[in-house]
Amino acid sequence: MTDTAGTGALPVEGVPAARVLDEIRALREADRPTHGGRLFAYVYDPGVAGLDELAQAAHAESAHVNGLDPTAFPSLLAMENALVGAAARLLGGGPGTSAPDVVGSVTSGGTESLILAVKAARDARPDPTEPRIVVPVSGHAAFAKAAHYLRVALDPVPVDPVTLRPAAADVAAAIRPETVLVVASAPSYAHGVVDPVAEIAAVAAAAGVRCHVDACFGGWTLPWLRRLGAPVPPFDFAVPGVTSISVDLHKYAYAPKGVSVLLHRDPGLRASQFFAYADWPGYTMVNPVIASTRSGGPIAAAYATLRHLGEDGYLRLAAVTRDAVAGLADAVRAVGGLRLLAEPESTVVCFAADDPGLDLFVLVDELTARGWHTQPQLAYAGLPASVHLTVTAAVAPRVAEFGPALAEAAAAARAAGPVVLPPELLGLAGSLTPEALTPDLIAGLAAGLGLGAGAAPDRMAAVNTLLQAAPVRLRERLLVEFVGLLQRPTW
Ligand SMILES: Cc1ncc(COP(=O)(O)O)c(C=O)c1O
Repeated sequence: MTDTAGTGALPVEGVPAARVLDEIRALREADRPTHGGRLFAYVYDPGVAGLDELAQAAHAESAHVNGLDPTAFPSLLAMENALVGAAARLLGGGPGTSAPDVVGSVTSGGTESLILAVKAARDARPDPTEPRIVVPVSGHAAFAKAAHYLRVALDPVPVDPVTLRPAAADVAAAIRPETVLVVASAPSYAHGVVDPVAEIAAVAAAAGVRCHVDACFGGWTLPWLRRLGAPVPPFDFAVPGVTSISVDLHKYAYAPKGVSVLLHRDPGLRASQFFAYADWPGYTMVNPVIASTRSGGPIAAAYATLRHLGEDGYLRLAAVTRDAVAGLADAVRAVGGLRLLAEPESTVVCFAADDPGLDLFVLVDELTARGWHTQPQLAYAGLPASVHLTVTAAVAPRVAEFGPALAEAAAAARAAGPVVLPPELLGLAGSLTPEALTPDLIAGLAAGLGLGAGAAPDRMAAVNTLLQAAPVRLRERLLVEFVGLLQRPTW
């Protein structure tokens, strides 16, 4: 090749459209299945015929519209306001409620919503030189990311090893004069349990501190489950002291990726979320969210999805999902050596192993080999390693197959035995500090674990075992290094 040859995504001569699409389809063959109810993380599939096509058409309609300026593109503003209104209504706000003045913004996802909730809280309180947030350890990692990005200190609160919930008294004890925000989850991602929101919001309010409810995961399921008769505890704007709530539409509202809603109880609470800048020679800028230029595609797709499914659609999907959760939980209960880490109270099934001969990471690989993709969670702070299943409506028709597959995979994992890493590797993981990691050491570790450039190994049990053996800071550094190995340009 000469230096004028195209590389990577940019050929010298353009490729015909049909071939480009074929290339993408060929690449997609290596992906986990986004549809069909066999992938229990990352994707949210309602299994509704025609919904994808509708969302794609809506996305295409608005893909080139720019959310940078709502006056230039009122279509987007109208759809955003409609999404915020729907989310607010569902979560206890709007006319005739105790939170009639709820306002909100559409963001790109849960992480952006949480970063903005922290930013709004931080910037509303300019007094503390070192602002702090109080977050139960079961709170989503995005709060730690927000704290890191925004230079806010994080005060973690432990969770009870049995209920997996924080105690409001511990939250109260963690609040200091510099605390700008207290957080509760409804539910937590890892275990699917709803925090005692009313108690936590009360201690926050008593201290004069904002309280954010992270309902990114459950905000679009808990209200329907409650209507179906589930004993869902209060978690929304009906709870005094809750000042903001996040809910992701690209999760259980079943919209394509790129849409979350951040709600505030009133406009005054939201004001410090915005960023405006007029001190440069370009256009005067005001950004409600982190991104400036924003595609209208995800917003239009979410709007179409909500309009098409409607309340009756979501209620039906919630009922189907609830039954799938019950079926999967029964499947776990039926396998000796496995136990539910928490009784399911939302749309998560989370289980642990209480038999040392049954290695959960090997079990996860055995399930993968059988076409079932689950999510391993490492042991942490006294909590055991676990397997997480995000359950969506598309799982329902698969439940009957999952039970035998789980039993078979558990038997295979028992027969294979736990992962045994060379003692020197385990010793290294236990004793190394992140600072002592050299490029050679990382390359050696990666090669030993089968982490070549550009691809992850089929079996991840050894990688998970090594990570689990490492202290948290080393885990983080190894993850950064390993993913850094995957993210290399193709020439
Ligand atoms: C409770 C909770 N909060 C926040 C997030 C982060 O959302 P996202 O991945 O859309 O940034 C998630 C994602 O699973 C979540 O479950």
